Amino acid sequence: MNSPTYVPEEPAGYQSGPSGYRLAFQDPSRGAYLYHGNCIEVMEAISRNHPDGCFDMIFADPPYGLSNDGFTCVAGQMASVNKGTWDKFAGLREYEQFTHAWLSLSQRLLKKDGTIWVSGTRHNIFTIGHVLGSLGFKLLNDIVWEKPNPPPNLSRRYFTHSTEIIIWAAKNSKSRHRFNYEAMREENSGKQMRSIWKISPPRLLERQSGRHPTQKPLALLRRIIVASTTTGDFVLDPFAGTSTTGVASLELGRFYCGIESENDFVNLSIQRLA
Ligand SMILES: C[S@@+](CC[C@H](N)C(=O)[O-])C[C@H]1O[C@@H](n2cnc3c(N)ncnc32)[C@H](O)[C@@H]1O
Repeated sequence: MNSPTYVPEEPAGYQSGPSGYRLAFQDPSRGAYLYHGNCIEVMEAISRNHPDGCFDMIFADPPYGLSNDGFTCVAGQMASVNKGTWDKFAGLREYEQFTHAWLSLSQRLLKKDGTIWVSGTRHNIFTIGHVLGSLGFKLLNDIVWEKPNPPPNLSRRYFTHSTEIIIWAAKNSKSRHRFNYEAMREENSGKQMRSIWKISPPRLLERQSGRHPTQKPLALLRRIIVASTTTGDFVLDPFAGTSTTGVASLELGRFYCGIESENDFVNLSIQRLA
């Protein structure tokens, strides 16, 4: 197999602590790399060496900013909605600034025909859509991911939340993006694939390395990767979590670079990648 055009490196002068980052895992034989650190810093460092971009596709599942001390239902029990300090923002303005920072770096890091997928809910998806548009990305699709067995709404004051939105966008209006139409049609029993995808949350087997509050199902990432990349493409996930994107990428013969800020999730990712 070829290797990716960009090969991640341990940064020179790495300092541990809030402003440092490190290459926590690498397996060059499979083209798999994981940074432990803040994605803004890591992406800035990569883009300094690759001003014309080096990734074919980016999948991003950013903090949703929904940790507002409210309640939800987990396994039939009332539970806090808070995901962790990484999901706390001082307000909409701070969330917008953060979104603008990582999305503009993502745009720089995409190759000219590259695409980005960003997932979210009502809490953040409109901010993300607005920032993508203002940066000049070309919006391609909004996918509705329907969860077949959502938890009930305990307050009985809203419809039961049962979907997430995933926006698919190309680097800019000149990009000739890849869409593997035939592969998607085949997956949909010979009919055109629509933009509503019914996919169950991760199965127990996918969670056996440990728990992450917002882990995505492998089936979702497999579909995204098959739809928009080819063998040997290089995929970036700036909010890697448990590296679901990495597991699916390697399984499908793509290369993977993940970035994750929380030590526990870096360890979880390493177990899954190894
Ligand atoms: C919504 S979760 C992603 C879950 C992932 N898609 C999976 O399947 O496991 C977002 C992740 O981004 C991480 N994160 C939050 N802010 C970050 C930042 N500035 N840089 C890098 N990672 C960050 C969080 O620790 C969390 O694990």
